[in-house]
Amino acid sequence: METSSAPGKVYLFGEHAVVYGEPAVPCAIQRRATVSVEERADERIRVEADDLSLDGFTVTYGEDPDEADVDVPGALVEAATGYVDGAVEQAREAGGAPDAGFNVEISSEIPLGAGLGSSAAVVVAGIDAATRELGVELSAEELAERAYRVEHDVQEGQASRADTFCSAVGGAVRVEGDDCRRVRDVPELPFVVGYDGGAGDTGELVAGVRARRDRYGFAADTVSAIGDLVRQGTRALRDEDIAQVGELMDFNHGLLSALGVSSRSLEAMVWAARDAGATGAKLTGAGGGGCIVALDETTSTRHALEYTPGCEAAFRAELDPEGVRRV
Ligand code: PMV
Repeated sequence: METSSAPGKVYLFGEHAVVYGEPAVPCAIQRRATVSVEERADERIRVEADDLSLDGFTVTYGEDPDEADVDVPGALVEAATGYVDGAVEQAREAGGAPDAGFNVEISSEIPLGAGLGSSAAVVVAGIDAATRELGVELSAEELAERAYRVEHDVQEGQASRADTFCSAVGGAVRVEGDDCRRVRDVPELPFVVGYDGGAGDTGELVAGVRARRDRYGFAADTVSAIGDLVRQGTRALRDEDIAQVGELMDFNHGLLSALGVSSRSLEAMVWAARDAGATGAKLTGAGGGGCIVALDETTSTRHALEYTPGCEAAFRAELDPEGVRRV
């Protein structure tokens, strides 16, 4: 049996605009998904997930999904098995073992579908563990590429390379179209995450921004302004100017809000963080619900978020310099 873990991520800057070729800076955080994989004697796949959400589940299936033996119903299983299936397909291909079957065990510290890259972390860790189980070692870049293909298929073409690349290589990364690279020598980033317990519909939110951008020139300008902000933010990051990084996070949140992807609970958490003295605060990921990210090296923001109506959980999630790793 082989076990790998991979980190989730927050967007320091640039979500949504990245869809239109602008740069974005996602950062890996010290919250991980862990996947164990053991080859089976048959071609079937058995997936066991402990704490992917409040309810764990187990599902065993072969070629015909209708024959699946499932212990909980629903969309959660369907979504999770889509990603696991994709990861298994990639591992079979990379390992030259098209008929390999696996027992897969997943646990995760990353809330599902909340803008923290839970699916990318599961896919990256899954491909790594499964290929190693087949005796093949892939580089972080190859893993990122294969994981991207899975996300791209499962999300029907709506995926950028940001989540999967960031999860595979760790640290702060800069993504612009197909060009993905690590941002070196970044300062410590004391992230605090607030989570409203919900999730936005990424496809719908991306479509909403696209519609506004097509309809209004000033919405298209807003998307370009986010690109300018990310270029400035990358410089601030390299100069270790945390005050400016924070200011630009605030600015980025305002522009995302103008594009229609914030929500009442995200606004409440962003303002609670600012009032508590955070250096900057913004929603992270697709928006519509889910998570905000703030910068605060003290405990004030976390405590303030814990008492904010609409915030279900608040936690520190420091920058993780390490990507996928063997456990
Ligand atoms: O919510 P997440 O972590 O899936 O992030 C979505 C980020 C978008 O820019 C809105 C879409 C994308 O694929 O880049």
